[in-house]
Amino acid sequence: MMLIRSRRLRATQALRDLVAETDLRPRHFIQPYFVQAAEGVSPIGSLPGIARTGIEATCDQVEADLKKGLRSVLLFGVPEGKDPDAHGAHDPEGIVPKAVTELKKRFGQDLVVMTDVCLCAYTDHGHCGLVKDGVVVNDESAALLAEMALVHARAGADLVAPSDMMDGRVAAMRVRMDEEGFQNTGILSYAIKHAGAYYGPFRDAADSSPKFGDRRTYQMDPRNAREGLRDALLDLEEGADVLMVKPALPNLDLVYRLRDACHAPIFAYHVSSEFSSVKAASERGWVDGDALMLQHLLAIRRAGADAIVTYAGREALQKGWVD
Ligand code: PBG
Ligand code: ZN
Repeated sequence: MMLIRSRRLRATQALRDLVAETDLRPRHFIQPYFVQAAEGVSPIGSLPGIARTGIEATCDQVEADLKKGLRSVLLFGVPEGKDPDAHGAHDPEGIVPKAVTELKKRFGQDLVVMTDVCLCAYTDHGHCGLVKDGVVVNDESAALLAEMALVHARAGADLVAPSDMMDGRVAAMRVRMDEEGFQNTGILSYAIKHAGAYYGPFRDAADSSPKFGDRRTYQMDPRNAREGLRDALLDLEEGADVLMVKPALPNLDLVYRLRDACHAPIFAYHVSSEFSSVKAASERGWVDGDALMLQHLLAIRRAGADAIVTYAGREALQKGWVD
C-alpha cells in the first residue's frame, strides 16, 4: 500500500497553484535601460527586444512599463565621449544624471531608479577602473566611483549600484554621499560578480569591452564560492543596503547561501548571455523560448532572490508570466 502519493497535489492547475512555493510578481522585476545621448531608439542586435534609448524614449518606455506594474529600473549610460580617466562618469551633465533627473521629474516616487556605477563605458581602454602602468588601480578608482555615485545621488537616484569590483568602493561611496548630505541614497552592491563569458551581449550594448587584457584582476574567480560570500558580507559592513549576485543561474548556490548568511535583501542579475542564449536558441526553433525564460526566472526566485534584474522583465509582464 502506498500512503503517500505526491501526484495527488499535482492533479489540477488549481491544486498545483494552491501548493506552489514560488511566485513571480511585477515587483520582483528590475528592467535594465541603456541610455544614449542621441534621441530615439537604437535596437541592440545581441539583445533581442532591447534597445539603447535617448532620454525622451527612455521616459516613454518607462511610462508604458509602469502601466504594466514594472516599477524599478537600472540605468546604464552609453556616453558619446571616452577618455583614459573617465571624466564623463562623474559629469553632472552626463547622460545618466540627466536621465535620472528627467525620470524623477516625470514619475517621482512611483518609480525606483537605480544607476549602475562603473567606469568601463567611460574609459577609452574599457576597464572598470583607472589604469596606471597597465594595472587597474584600486583606491584611485574607488575614489572616482564615489564621485560618480555622488553625481547620481544628486540627480535623485534611489539606489546607486557599483559593478566595478574595486575593494572598498562601497565604503568610499557611503562616506562620500553622507558627507554631501545624501544619507538616504541606498547602495545596491554587485557583491558577488564573477569574471567570465557571460557579459558579451551587454558589452556590445554598452560598448564597454576591455581593449587589453580581461577583468580577472578585479572580478571574482568563477571557481570560488567562499570568496564571494566573504566579500558580500564585507560589503554589508561597508554599508551596502542590498546585495546582488551575478550571473544568476551559474550562481544559484551563492544566492541560496547568501540568503542564509545574512538578512539583507538579495537581488540576482539574470545577465545578457543568460537572456540572449534563450533568444538565440528559440529563434532556431530548438527551444520554447518563453517557457525556458520563465523557468530561468522561477529558479532564481526559488533560490532566494528577492528581485531579479532581467532583460525579460517587460516581456514577463506583457506575456502574463506573473502571478
Ligand atoms: C559594468 C557591467 C557589466 C554588466 C553589468 N555592469 C559588464 C561587465 O562587467 O563587463 C553585465 C551585465 C550583463 O551582462 O547583462 N561593469
Ligand atoms: Zn565595468
